[in-house]
Amino acid sequence: MFAVTAARFDDDDPLAGLVLDDRPEPVPEPGWTTVAVKATALNHHDVWTLRGVGVAAERLPIVLGCDAAGLDEDGNPVVVYAVIGDASRYRDETLDPGRSLLSERYDGTFAERVAVPRQNLLPKPDALTFEEAACLPTAYLTAYRMLFSASGLQPGATILVQGAGGGVATALIVLGRAAGYRVWATSRSEEKRDRAVALGADQAFASGAKLPERVDAVMETVGQATWPHSLRALRPGGRIVVSGATSGPAPSADLARVFFLQLSVVGATMGSRDELGRLVRFCEQTGVRPLIDRTLPLTQAREGFAAMASGDVFGKIVFTL
Ligand SMILES: NC(=O)c1ccc[n+]([C@@H]2O[C@H](COP(=O)([O-])OP(=O)(O)OC[C@H]3O[C@@H](n4cnc5c(N)ncnc54)[C@H](OP(=O)(O)O)[C@@H]3O)[C@@H](O)[C@H]2O)c1
Repeated sequence: MFAVTAARFDDDDPLAGLVLDDRPEPVPEPGWTTVAVKATALNHHDVWTLRGVGVAAERLPIVLGCDAAGLDEDGNPVVVYAVIGDASRYRDETLDPGRSLLSERYDGTFAERVAVPRQNLLPKPDALTFEEAACLPTAYLTAYRMLFSASGLQPGATILVQGAGGGVATALIVLGRAAGYRVWATSRSEEKRDRAVALGADQAFASGAKLPERVDAVMETVGQATWPHSLRALRPGGRIVVSGATSGPAPSADLARVFFLQLSVVGATMGSRDELGRLVRFCEQTGVRPLIDRTLPLTQAREGFAAMASGDVFGKIVFTL
């Protein structure tokens, strides 16, 4: 079957290890099943993998991709939950210390077929296309948890989304807007700031700009480049919810500001299978749909990877089969 794999790591030139070719068919483990992939979405996670982050070298070559929507073995439309973890022993799958995402230990979704635990399948509603449904399991689920589980906020609160153009960031804007938050966003690019407002942000600001007032919470995925601004942007008692650090993971902590203003910093990673089910229903109920930057056949995956690696993206990049 056709698949997109990471064959080797290269921190400076991640696309150097990207291989598009034929791979053996997946062999499901006991309790697992096979999904015929109809659509899959690119995440920064796939670029991190090519750079050698989060995957052991002895696991190479590994099929990339965390997200999938497709058909189960009986031909039913399904969405694939990407976390392989044990929810019965921990509060949810993401808290299982042995958990992994598809494409970390087991082959991922950038392939004609992918093997997954049977319990990781959710029905795909007719209201969502395969392309839309494929955007939900990673970026949209992470945004859902950041907004509704980790932020501690209620509708009407003001949030700041850093780095508006990203997959998670655009998800934060559309889901936050639909839930009744006042959504402010930052971007390095004027064009992306305009697009953020068109997407539903109330206002958009240049990265690092002084804001009209302080916000209740900041949604962080950029990391080092925006962290000092995120700390300055918070009202006393405010909260940063952080799920990523694209520009670097080691910003200055500015502890004096953290304790004087009684700020909190909360980490968020993916979401539970139950949260994915609620996210699917949220999309159905509100009419909200994932923002897709572009759709490409999986055979042209290299073009999508190049766009993401250079930051030339506004929304999700989707691959179809
Ligand atoms: N913890 C989890 O479960 C989880 C889940 C999903 C994603 N993540 C992480 O979250 C991050 C975002 O993921 P994604 O898939 O949304 O990535 P993406 O689509 O590539 O988004 C990256 C965005 O970050 C902003 N950015 C990047 N470098 C920047 C810099 N130096 N200064 C300012 N802004 C910068 C850009 O926004 P502008 O161009 O608009 O400024 C860009 O659009 C990644 O690091 C990813 O690994 C974590």
